[in-house]
Amino acid sequence: MLSRERIDAIVRHYGRDILEHEHMEIERRSLQHGDVTTYEHSLRVARLSVAIADRLHLWRHVDLRALVRAALLHDYFLYDWHDYDGGSHRMHGFRHPYTAEANARADFELDDIVSNSIRTHMFPLTPIPPRYLEGVIVNVADTVSAVRETLASRLSRWKRADAARRGSTLRP
Ligand SMILES: [Fe+2]
Ligand SMILES: [Fe+2]
Repeated sequence: MLSRERIDAIVRHYGRDILEHEHMEIERRSLQHGDVTTYEHSLRVARLSVAIADRLHLWRHVDLRALVRAALLHDYFLYDWHDYDGGSHRMHGFRHPYTAEANARADFELDDIVSNSIRTHMFPLTPIPPRYLEGVIVNVADTVSAVRETLASRLSRWKRADAARRGSTLRP
């Protein structure tokens, strides 16, 4: 089983140019779920995707480079979705996979595994399922990360409100 350090090294090895690209500055400034930025979320999805491939012994079935790159680029839509479509956020859910793919194609060379996995990462919200195993893994890792990040931020907000109500400060 791979250690966290090894997983991190794999993500940085295959995704260094993406992580260092100037457009990642936009992801660093944009909030995704709660107080987690799109950059942190993408990194998390990439680490979790590698961990899933490892835990399920899928090494012979996945293209590791494509898996890491699809995960890092899956939300490469390059805006803060809280500012999108007049605050309704409805169309963002459907459209952002296509925007992310177009942006990623403009900045990097994409093979079909990466582009299909980016485009289908919101399935079943969008109608077409991933064609490749890498896309299925990114889809699952994204869903798990989104739920975790949203819950963590709600929980910390609730803890702060609860502490304020009790007039005390909770220990970290
Ligand atoms: Fe997304
Ligand atoms: Fe995502």
